[in-house]
Amino acid sequence: MKLYIETYGCQMNFSDSEIIASVLGGASYDVTRELSMADVVLVNTCSIRENAEKRVLGRISELSAIKRKRPGMVLGVVGCMAERLKESLLELCQGVDIIAGPDAYRSLPHMLGQARDGRRMANVLLSEEETYDRIDPVRLDPSGVSAFISIMRGCNNYCTYCVVPYVRGRERSRDPETIIREAERVYNNGYREVTLLGQNVNSYRWSNGSKKVDFPELMSQVAGVSRQLRVRFATSHPRDISQKLIDTIAEHQNIARAVHLPVQSGSSRVLEKMNRKYTREWYLDRVGAIREKIPHCGITTDIITGFPGETEEDHRQTLSLMQEVRFDFAFMFKYSQRPGTAAAKRWTDDVPEEVKGQRLEEIVRFQQQMSQKSNDGDVGKTFEVLVEGPSKKDANMLMGRNSQNKVVVFPGGSHLIKTYVRVKVHDCTSATLKGTLTS
Ligand code: 5AD
Ligand code: SF4
Repeated sequence: MKLYIETYGCQMNFSDSEIIASVLGGASYDVTRELSMADVVLVNTCSIRENAEKRVLGRISELSAIKRKRPGMVLGVVGCMAERLKESLLELCQGVDIIAGPDAYRSLPHMLGQARDGRRMANVLLSEEETYDRIDPVRLDPSGVSAFISIMRGCNNYCTYCVVPYVRGRERSRDPETIIREAERVYNNGYREVTLLGQNVNSYRWSNGSKKVDFPELMSQVAGVSRQLRVRFATSHPRDISQKLIDTIAEHQNIARAVHLPVQSGSSRVLEKMNRKYTREWYLDRVGAIREKIPHCGITTDIITGFPGETEEDHRQTLSLMQEVRFDFAFMFKYSQRPGTAAAKRWTDDVPEEVKGQRLEEIVRFQQQMSQKSNDGDVGKTFEVLVEGPSKKDANMLMGRNSQNKVVVFPGGSHLIKTYVRVKVHDCTSATLKGTLTS
């Protein structure tokens, strides 16, 4: 049987699709990249903003139309939207056969068997233990250079805007032994970078009797697999950026000099309403602590504009924080009210769409200037770059990333793919560094 998986949303979802491919691989389903070959089509979905859901619903109706012409094809919706909408998705989308939430992937072989017998069904049970720890993911990214390793699942933070705790359940950490073994396996298979994934990686905490492992210790162990294996992590919560974590990054040359630290807003008043549990001052202090201990560390962020009650003054504070930190890169979004979240229950979504749009445009423009400045500052410098493959825009050029996670493009032969090279930067745009190989 052939399985086709389409994935939307965050890196965690991409990692989950690799777990699904592995679970179903054990039940004789092989992954295909051709939709036209598929016996089973799964859509791994995201609920983070309304737009993400609309896009997926559109895609599900397209796939349902294809299914009508291909009797026997099974269509499943999995992931966060499956969890949020549960059985109602079966009514909403008549073409859908199965619904599986993020903790239900082990039941997929059984569910698909039922679906082939014509029974439509849903499994959206959330678990307090499931970490898929002994499953060896089937790597779906064809480049073979960089792999995701999921180290924890769920979230206990309850930021008031966020749907994640409702769709991914309570926080739980994976057995470190299984994480190290997975890192060794990917390294032995030629990968040279791993990203340790979780909704809030710095709350990683595992214990068994007297044995306890926290996130900095786990990261040290993964970094110990090989000096040739670069270690990244995503995402951290600013409240939990400890000195121990900063020291651990500083101590290991192969832990990437890059911290993604979502700030969400520059206004302490808004941060409080968001239940972020830190202030603007705390955030700036943590950035200072990172920069002091880890020189040349890339710092990136996420920002939401138009949270309920956000005033022009709050927005100005976000801009001034951006100026103070000088983020290397930012993901920026308009607030989208999610049903069931604390913000949706407590406040009306009162910032007009037009104002949200203007504020978003303003921060996007400002960030582009900051990114350009950050990249201008790299011209003349030499970086160690892990080569990922040919550049998308020009097949004669190679593309890779430096430790700060910036994309670097330079001329070179394909034999360099999966190796570390030194590249001297001589030009840039706001998104890319351009350079030449150097010794
Ligand atoms: N509306 C807009 N953006 C959101 N994010 C999370 N929830 C929402 C929402 N309801 C953003 C945050 C988070 C990123 C993954 O998505 O910035 O860090
Ligand atoms: Fe989207 Fe959040 Fe689910 Fe990731 S965890 S797919 S961002 S809703």
